[in-house]
Amino acid sequence: MDEIGKEINDLKKKINAVIVAHNYQRPEVQDIADFVGDSLELSRKCTEVDAEVIVFCGVHFMAESAAILNPQKTVLLSVGDAGCPMADMISGDQLREWKAKYPDATVVCYINSTAEVKAESDYCCTSANAVKLVESIPANDILFVPDKNLGHYVSTKTDKNIILYPGCCPPHNRVTPKQVTLARKNYPTAEVVVHPECVPEVVAIADAVLSTSQMLRFVKESKSDTFIIGTEQELLYRMHKENPGKTFYVLSSSLICPNMKKTTLASVVKAMELKRNVVTVPEDIRIKAKQSLDRMLAVV
Ligand code: 13P
Ligand code: SF4
Repeated sequence: MDEIGKEINDLKKKINAVIVAHNYQRPEVQDIADFVGDSLELSRKCTEVDAEVIVFCGVHFMAESAAILNPQKTVLLSVGDAGCPMADMISGDQLREWKAKYPDATVVCYINSTAEVKAESDYCCTSANAVKLVESIPANDILFVPDKNLGHYVSTKTDKNIILYPGCCPPHNRVTPKQVTLARKNYPTAEVVVHPECVPEVVAIADAVLSTSQMLRFVKESKSDTFIIGTEQELLYRMHKENPGKTFYVLSSSLICPNMKKTTLASVVKAMELKRNVVTVPEDIRIKAKQSLDRMLAVV
């Protein structure tokens, strides 16, 4: 193990920490993490760990979800200003205003949202369970925030009336159907696998629409040996590592999340050394936000 790896291990023992990382983190960050996964897996994992400190290598809403679910633990975000622009596209006030227009609807928020938005929602979901979660809701009218693309994808898989909020993930939203057509022309035997944060026109012509960890399972189990991947480019690191005989291409050069790239090994060391970037949620908001997360974890 190199110097910085040893330093991180020593700090982990010293402060009794566990390091969790999202699938979009830099390769070297994924390599020092105790657990790497998608948003759903990371939320679950954070409720199972014994360590006193959770070091979250990802973006703010992910660390915030860990803090909501684990009030007795200290949650450190690897880089204080690593945010998610989609999560910031709707505030608690904006959601309250929108809800007032549809007083009888049930609110489902994507986990890529702030604690305040989760607190104003009835249920939370991730890209791995959105369809199943929405199907489990007795009501017919669903306000879906903030991702219009994930919400649209869900609407094609259920008979519920899904009312969409106009948020989106900038990197995924930039992928075009033309890029899919071109990739298929260049690699005719490849399977095209995209994230549901892509626009409906891209989703409609993909072979599979999956969360990041579902993609990892899909490419492992598939008989194909070439894949075009429509999500943040760093997912290809795990794909290559776990499937040495298979070939992966990223669908578009726009698929880079600058916020996910902010975390480096040096920032992980600093966050642990100084116990900085502690993520906390006011108790009244935390309790309400936890309800929508708990409802998700109970259903799927
Ligand atoms: P996953 O839950 O599929 O890992 O996605 C998280 C995310 O931020 C996608 O942009
Ligand atoms: Fe947010 Fe998109 Fe980055 Fe995911 S990839 S964290 S949705 S900006």
